[in-house]
Parts: sequence; C-alpha cells; structure tokens
Amino acid sequence: MSVSKSLTRRGALAGGLAVGAVSVVPTRFAIAQPKPLKVGLMLPYSGTFAKLGENITSAVEMLIAEKGGKLGGRVVEIVKLDDESKPEKGPQNAERLVKRDAVDVLIGTVHSGVQMGIHKVVRETGTLTIIPNAGANSVTRELCAKNVFRTSFSNWQPAHGMGLALGKRGVRKAAWITWDYAAGKEAGDGFREGLEKHGGKVVQSLTLKFPETNFQPLLAQIPGLDVEVVGSFFAGGGAVQFVKEYKAAGLKVPLCGSGFLTEGTLAAQGDAADGIETALHYADGLDNARNLAFRKAFKEKAGRDADVYAVQGYDAAQLLAIGLEAVKGNVEDEANLYKAMRGARIESPRGPMTISSSQEVVHNIYLRRVTNGENKVVGIAAEALADPGTGCKL
Ligand code: BEZ
Repeated sequence: MSVSKSLTRRGALAGGLAVGAVSVVPTRFAIAQPKPLKVGLMLPYSGTFAKLGENITSAVEMLIAEKGGKLGGRVVEIVKLDDESKPEKGPQNAERLVKRDAVDVLIGTVHSGVQMGIHKVVRETGTLTIIPNAGANSVTRELCAKNVFRTSFSNWQPAHGMGLALGKRGVRKAAWITWDYAAGKEAGDGFREGLEKHGGKVVQSLTLKFPETNFQPLLAQIPGLDVEVVGSFFAGGGAVQFVKEYKAAGLKVPLCGSGFLTEGTLAAQGDAADGIETALHYADGLDNARNLAFRKAFKEKAGRDADVYAVQGYDAAQLLAIGLEAVKGNVEDEANLYKAMRGARIESPRGPMTISSSQEVVHNIYLRRVTNGENKVVGIAAEALADPGTGCKL
C-alpha cells in the first residue's frame, strides 16, 4: 500500500485504529461490525453532460440497492461531488473526495479532461477507481495503473467500429467533426484507423472548443469537402443541438459517428436523427434477458429510460461488487481485490463483457441506425473489441 493511501484510508473493520486513537477492548458480547464503505461519485450534475452523470448515479444506486445496500458485507455510503465537466477543477475535486472525505473507492467521471485530473490524484494515492464513462485512451494505455479500471470504453473503441463498418462498405473519403478535446480527437483517431484498414481516409477534421455549440461555420464547409460521409463525436446537450442543426442545414452528406451522438438524446433530436448510423457498445433494443430486466428496473427506479451511461454505471457497480465479494469487503487486500476484478466476466445489459490486461473493458461494438426514434441494431461492427492498450505495463 502506498504511504499516502495509508494516511487517507480508514481501516476496513471497526476496531482498526487511527494513529493516536484510544483502544477500546471489546467485551465478549460485542460484535465487530464492518465500517461502512465510502464510495465517492465524482460526476457532472450540471452543464452539457449533467444527464449523463445522473443516469450513471441512478444505476450505481440501483445495483447497490439490489444487493441490499451492502457490497462485500459492508454497508455502502455514497458521497457525491459535481465536477461540472471542468478539467481545471479535476485534481482539486478528486483530492477533496480522496483526502478530505477519505473515500475507499472513487467512481468517476464522464469528461476525459476531468479524468486526467482524477488520474493524477489516484495514481499517487492508490485509491481504487472505476471509470464509468470518460474514454481518455491514456488511462488504460501508457498511464495505466493497477488501481484503475474502466467499465465504459476507450475513446478509440466505438469510433473504430464506425470506421471499420464504413471502410468495409467501400467508403473512401470522409470528414470528421468534433469538439477539440481528448475525447473528440481520440475518437477521430479510432475512426480514421478503422477506415484506413479498408482503404478509406479522413480528408478533413473540423473542430470547435468544448462545450461550444457554434456549429454553423463548420457546417458551412461540408459541401466543399467532396466527402461521402461525415463522422462525428458529440454527446449530451451538444449532440442534440448538433444533430438538429445538421438536419436544418439541409446537407446531403450522411452523418454518422461514435454512438454518443444519438444516445440518450433521441427524444430531443426528433426527426432530425432519422437514419443516422452510429457504432456503440450498447443499444436500447438489445434482445438479451439481462438488458430487458435492467431497462425495466431502471425505468421503475429513475422514471426515465436507461441508456449507455446507465449501463456503464451499473457495470461499474457490478465490477466493484465482484471485487469486494472476493475480499469480503477488505479493500486493503489489494492483490486479491484487483485479481478478482481483472478476472471478472460480467453479464452486462450490453452483452458479454470482460476486462483486458490493461484493465479496460472488452465488448462488442454494435452498428445502429436510428429508426422510429430508436437506435436499432443493424449489425456488429466489431466483435469483442479490445483497446490496443499500447504502452501499458502493470
Ligand atoms: C469523454 O469526454 O470521454 C466523453 C464524454 C461524453 C461521452 C463520451 C465520452
């Protein structure tokens, strides 16, 4: 255990003493109760990604409730922090949870830039961290850490599936449009690599600052690019507006992308999303028993439909439960905790899901087309796709 972690963590069992505390010898009638397990949720509850953070939270809470409020025999206490999707506040917010609130586990976050701030802190403190959305490639590549796991995706994965599907179909020239930050850039790399595998290429990338939505100057350039398709990464409120403005611009070039473009956004996008193809590791209509039960339970709990963000939150809690059950709630038993998590085979609403040697999720990437207000699965763009995990040594 790292020194800083031993200073920030409380012992797993009641009776584990802080330095300088007074020992109370238990009577023979006293029954040692495990201390509550503090789980920090560092997520956006405001701004363009607020809905994403809320769905992750509801799904984490749902899994914990399904387990009777306990994981590995310990009552779970949740501490929430709104990270506002502001990268500049990332390290400070992560420190608040890890050092001030002394959480045992951190689940977070959504925005790749904020994730880098969390990563800096948890690599130093050794706090067990499960990423329920942010796709920043480096956290499971060159900056991977034995205490950091991801149950969502790497930014490379879904967009790579989209590029592969288009390339196979014979698309030769595409453009890429996105926010200018890690997620948009890395998804663009995945898209380009997929396309290039089958002889296609990305001839132009168009970007604007996150979370700006002044799309008009970029849309105006598309007719002059002579491309067969426009690939894109946008999510949340920004994706709603982008899809509507793309349609309103009357562009003839088909729009596609990483599945976040049409995920959890279709009700607000309306007809503007009709026919859009995307690739993602989830789709509402996946016809497996786990997904059907999950969607029903989520709707009952949250009063809204589940989406990929809810699935990723649920699976973050499922992975944590597997680890904690293996060590009976003792998060200090890192070797066995991480071993159990690495070996997890999760029955996810998305279908089969395993964890790679770089502690990244391995899963199918589905090709979806928006039909009658739903992301309908039309094929598998990449089966059991693992991120390359380049540079990760654990
Ligand atoms: C990201 O910043 O990594 C991200 C945000 C929203 C959806 C997908 C990825």
